Parts: sequence; C-alpha cells; structure tokens
Amino acid sequence: MGAAGRYGGEAMIIAIDGPSGSGKSTVARLVAERLGWLHLDSGALYRALTLAALQRGARMDDPEALLSVAMTSRVELRPAEGEEPRVVLDGADVTGAIRTPQVTAHVGALADVPAVRARVTALVRQLAQGRDVVADGRDATTVIFPEADLKVFLDAAPEERARRRFEELVRRGTPVAYDEVLAAILERDRRDRERAVGALRRAPDALVLDTTGLGLAEVVERVVCAADAIRARRAARAEHGGSASEEGR
Ligand code: DC
Repeated sequence: MGAAGRYGGEAMIIAIDGPSGSGKSTVARLVAERLGWLHLDSGALYRALTLAALQRGARMDDPEALLSVAMTSRVELRPAEGEEPRVVLDGADVTGAIRTPQVTAHVGALADVPAVRARVTALVRQLAQGRDVVADGRDATTVIFPEADLKVFLDAAPEERARRRFEELVRRGTPVAYDEVLAAILERDRRDRERAVGALRRAPDALVLDTTGLGLAEVVERVVCAADAIRARRAARAEHGGSASEEGR
C-alpha cells in the first residue's frame, strides 16, 4: 500500500469472508459498486486457473501440473463500465466460462494445492496495489489481507443459507429438496473448516455481521458505514498531522 488512494492519501482495502452461502461475493460486489472501488473476487481467480487447467488437459489430481498451469497463466481483472470486472485468461474473456458446473466441480482440487494458493494470494495482492478494493474469498481476511483496513466476516445460520440457496435454485427452475440443500451446506461448512490449507477462519478483529434476517441492502449499508467511519477517522488524523500508517492497522 502507500500509493495514492481516496482516503488519507492511501489506498484502502476491505476484505470480506464467511461460510458458503453467506453472500460474501454479492455483498462485496455491491459494496464495491457503492464506493466505486474495484471488486477483487479471489474465487474468480481460482476458477480462471481451473479453466486453464481443464483447457490444457492437466490432471486435476496432480499438484505439480496444477501449479505449472498457475505459474504460466496470465489472469487479469479488467474494470468494466457499470458492471463486474471482466475476468481475462491469457487474453481471452472468460467471465462466463468460469461459472460452468465443470469448473465448479474441479475448482476445489486446484484450491487445495498450497503452492497454487500462494500464487493466487500473490496475484490478488498485486491486483490490489495502489487501488481501493473490496476483496472477498474464503481466506480474504486471514491470509490474503490480514492487514486490511476493514475485515468483515459475514455469517448466517445454516438454515438461512440453505433457504437462500434453495430459493435461488427454484427461481432458476432447478427442482431440489430443501433438506438436501441444507445437508450440502452443512457438509461444505465442515469441509471448509477442516481443510488442511485455506480453511475458513474468523479473524479475531473482524466485524462479524450475522445476516440471518437481514436484507442485502442492509448488510451492504452496514459495511459501507463501517468503511465511512474508518475514512472519517483517517481524515481527522491527517488533519491533525498524523499519518494513516500510524493507525497500526
Ligand atoms: O466463491 P467461489 O465459489 O467463486 O470460489 C471458487 C472456489 O475457490 C471455491 O471452491 C472456494 C475457493 N476459494 C478459496 O479456496 N479461497 C478463496 N480466497 C476464494 C475461493
């Protein structure tokens, strides 16, 4: 950090994580939109590298092959007017292609390789250089940006997360039983907590927002308010001759 940003002369980072179905990506996207900042969706980078591995015919159970793909692929996020940044893999726009069920089915294997995680972490940090960003992902507050200006852990009861997912599937016309969705969420929670690498943890100094019973707009509002409070504190310090880096963040 240290490059010119909006607040107090330094770029700001908001990092958001939380369990599967907590809405972290949607909230991160809307907060970024509200503030006019870049949304850094770390999951999209894992997905882009998974697509690259599939395209190159790499074996998904071969960590060396996956790392080789990760080290030799160029992934960019290109800001797009009024919409999510485009995900660009080796020059090709893959924004839609990274959301297919095939990529979703394989991304976990790639995200389990520690050296690939280190590569993605470095890439996310590089993309954030000198910019105000809202970053989300399972380890956004603990590994990627443990020194973020604002860390948010979004939580919601498993039943609530299952209900949201269930309603989304019904809206899309996918027949599914609520109990099955809930069982899948509980299983995913267990796996995400117990992973050897990249496990979901709550940063001790994160703002914990339990979104059970809260609307999306309200969650976004709370995160933006917390960011505004930090901005105001920084501005006050700057006015009194202090520097943002003295905040000990
Ligand atoms: O949020 P998503 O479904 O787009 O994430 C894709 C995959 O990448 C998912 O398996 C979680 C994983 N991931 C991760 O391990 N660490 C991150 N910081 C972000 C995503």
